[in-house]
Amino acid sequence: MDVLEALRTGSNQYMSGEELARAAGMSRAAVWKRIEDLRERGYIIDARPHQGYRLLGVPDVPYPQEILAGLQTKVFGRKALFLRETASTNEDAKKLGAEGWPEGTIVAAENQTAGRGRLGRAWMTPPGGLWFSMVTRPALPLSGLGPLTIVAALALSRAVESETGVAPAIKWPNDLVVGGAKLSGILAETSGELDRAVLTIIGVGLNVNQEAGDFPPALRGKAVSLRMILGREVRRVPILRAFLREFEELYLAGMRRGFEDMIGQAAVRSATIGRRVRLTGAGGAAIEGRAVRMDSDGALVIETADGQIRALSGDVEEFAYV
Ligand code: BTN
Repeated sequence: MDVLEALRTGSNQYMSGEELARAAGMSRAAVWKRIEDLRERGYIIDARPHQGYRLLGVPDVPYPQEILAGLQTKVFGRKALFLRETASTNEDAKKLGAEGWPEGTIVAAENQTAGRGRLGRAWMTPPGGLWFSMVTRPALPLSGLGPLTIVAALALSRAVESETGVAPAIKWPNDLVVGGAKLSGILAETSGELDRAVLTIIGVGLNVNQEAGDFPPALRGKAVSLRMILGREVRRVPILRAFLREFEELYLAGMRRGFEDMIGQAAVRSATIGRRVRLTGAGGAAIEGRAVRMDSDGALVIETADGQIRALSGDVEEFAYV
């Protein structure tokens, strides 16, 4: 057992250096060094002469050990990597996936220097957000992947609600919004053959502790964080753990029996269905109408003014409420 786990199991009691050394199978000097190292990483560990050490607080950083503590999943988050800074966690997860890291592996970062958004856009990562990517290997054809990001948005909306009481709506295809402003974005990237997706990376960006002024001017009023909504700091790791639990449940069930009822559950949280929207395709052609539902592939079904019914996939250039 590691020193940190031994301190956690000791919960409210002081543990002597000797006890910790025995539990961790290391020397007392090594225990002392490990404690110093943990303190540097943000753990609050009290030391009392003749009594020993006690864990008083843990950092709200998605370190693998923090994700694992109390994690209620079998697959997702069981293997994890934390990076202070990286170009893009989607890129890192893609490499890990290609190297054979298992499904459910996650990569989280404090900062990204080249964060990616949908449709080739850049994704800014002002400090205080939760940025991570997951390795998945869905046994689905490429054409069947549409629902995956919708399921991720549903899982995240539920996790945010259970941890904070804020219930974000899902703006099709997979943004989370509160009061019309963007709280989260999801980017899925796939490699595979037509009949089988080999590796799908699902990247999630959630605005948690940023202040309004932390966002670039172009995003002010368009982006929002949980802290801005609640007026207090919000812990990120419990939201991440809750998300992994929700996502795993939906993902594994979806692999067994399809995603149809989950699309229905996402529709209940939709900020889009029932609204008038204008969607612009890659070629520039716009279509306007009332969003009536999502079909089983996750496509948005629109009824135009002349009564036509059209289903649109997630790769639209521009989305606007009208
Ligand atoms: C969007 O709304 O355009 C999707 C944004 C997805 C951002 C996340 S942050 C973690 C992961 N790494 C990336 O480079 N992008 C995703």
